[in-house]
Amino acid sequence: MRRMEALPPWPYPLWIAHRGAGKLAPENTLAAFRVGLALGYQMAECDVTLSGDGVPFLLHDARLERTTNGFGLARLQPWSAMAQLNAGRWHGTEFATEPLPTLAALAGLARETGLMLNLELKPGPEDDARCGRIAATEAQRLWASIETPPPLLSSFSIEALAAARDHAPALPRALLLERVSDGWRDAARELGAVAVVIEHRAVDAEVVLQALESGLRVLCYTVNGEAEARRLEDAGVDGLITDAIDRLGPQALP
Ligand code: G3P
Ligand code: CA
Repeated sequence: MRRMEALPPWPYPLWIAHRGAGKLAPENTLAAFRVGLALGYQMAECDVTLSGDGVPFLLHDARLERTTNGFGLARLQPWSAMAQLNAGRWHGTEFATEPLPTLAALAGLARETGLMLNLELKPGPEDDARCGRIAATEAQRLWASIETPPPLLSSFSIEALAAARDHAPALPRALLLERVSDGWRDAARELGAVAVVIEHRAVDAEVVLQALESGLRVLCYTVNGEAEARRLEDAGVDGLITDAIDRLGPQALP
């Protein structure tokens, strides 16, 4: 109760579908987000990066091979080429026509369905500030006319989040952390972050309390076990990012 009084309102749900639908559909595709919605999820995490000509789109890896029928580094290819790729067939023939989505296409789905988003900014090497600026500016523009809460921008890159803060101040930010180490709260505060997203094994009630003292919410990635989810809920976290959307979440764990 103390936490809710100390922090500004939080518009996002507890459960967040990782890369859309985790393992049930091809990650970071519109099909994946639709599967999550059908299972009762109201929010999804996804990975945003830039094409060679600066178009923000969804892809986790730096390279195209694992999740598309393309080859090579995505950051070296123009969007016009990647728009032709298939991003679903690797997961199953029922997804054989699934394209790589642009951030604009994702915004269209959010407008249509009310889906809330956590957009993880994934810059290429030496491209942190440019990726943060372009992706955040585009997200702010796209979501300005969408009635759902704004997308939560997160990143491991402090530089990308600083650019997001400077160029898209209306969008909330969260610093991604693999572990809790010296200065984590100072770094988040300097970014004007509303939250930290921490690897789940590094989170306990003491970490949540320390975050609260700095005005920060705590989200955890990637939580796929029920006992671990309950431990983190008891510790007071505000968000659980999961792959296990058929086993955990709004329907399975009330
Ligand atoms: O948002 C946290 C989590 O998604 C980071 O890991 O590799 O799945 O992007 P990764
Ligand atoms: Ca991610």
